[in-house]
Amino acid sequence: MPDFPFIIVRELDALRAQVAGWRGSGHKIGFVPTMGALHEGHLSLVDLAGEKADKVIVSIFVNPAQFAPHEDFDDYPRTEQSDFEKLSLRAVDAVYVPHGDAMYPPNFSTAVSVGGVTEGLESATRPHFFGGVATVVAKLLNQVQPDLAIFGEKDYQQLLTIRRMVRDLDMPIEIVGGATGREADGLAMSSRNAYLTADQRETAGELNKIMRHAIDTIEAGETPARALDKAKTALLAAGFNAVQYLELRDAETLEPVKANTKSGRLLAAVGIGDLRLIDNMPVLLP
Ligand code: PAJ
Repeated sequence: MPDFPFIIVRELDALRAQVAGWRGSGHKIGFVPTMGALHEGHLSLVDLAGEKADKVIVSIFVNPAQFAPHEDFDDYPRTEQSDFEKLSLRAVDAVYVPHGDAMYPPNFSTAVSVGGVTEGLESATRPHFFGGVATVVAKLLNQVQPDLAIFGEKDYQQLLTIRRMVRDLDMPIEIVGGATGREADGLAMSSRNAYLTADQRETAGELNKIMRHAIDTIEAGETPARALDKAKTALLAAGFNAVQYLELRDAETLEPVKANTKSGRLLAAVGIGDLRLIDNMPVLLP
């Protein structure tokens, strides 16, 4: 195995010893949890961690608990060596790659369930998802015990779920949101974009453009219901086979916007072939 400019830690005891050493030297520790198959979006979170902390830990763990039986857990890209190579070009101090059976030992019996922000949107089609995410992130945060942890706005409902969990369970960790990394045509980077055919990849770029247009018209005074109806029609015409949701929500609570909501968020999930794309963007309300 080539040498990398960070330590690779696979055992919890070794991770704890390393973190204790750094903390003892007064270092602030930043943490970026991932499932690997890293792209520039992930790496921008790593860079942000480096700006905010003295030591940066990245974890790579494809978490079975957040995949439903029919989802792509077995096929999810596992690219450990190339992930290490990408991370070696950034300021990373440790990469934590836990073993599956250590994360979920026999008779593992505990789950973290977050209400409120987890309701609707992603949960409508992936009811198992946020329970699996909250449980593994709670474990990872307890294992690493960072001062701050970074999550992407790309998965906005996930970011709010983690914020809520950390607040509700009094975890002494600052949760920082990182901006969505995008391709030149606006498509949000995703490990699953690699599965798009050339035609689908072209269509995929329309999602962000159509969302951007809807937001511009809402911010210019159009009623959200009309702007979103037009956007749904445009998405289907562009070649997406389903609009699972396209909704304007309160950016803090994810509840439907009210007359006095100032800060909105447009969130979308669309189908393309057998794949699903999600995206979200801020909306300034009058
Ligand atoms: P994963 O999909 O690997 O994403 C890891 C982190 O990168 C998440 O915080 C995600 O929001 C962020 N991310 C993904 N695409 C991004 C993009 N285009 N720009 C900026 N950030 C992006 O999300 C997960 O893994 C898992 O659910 C996890 C939190 C690791 C728990 O298993």
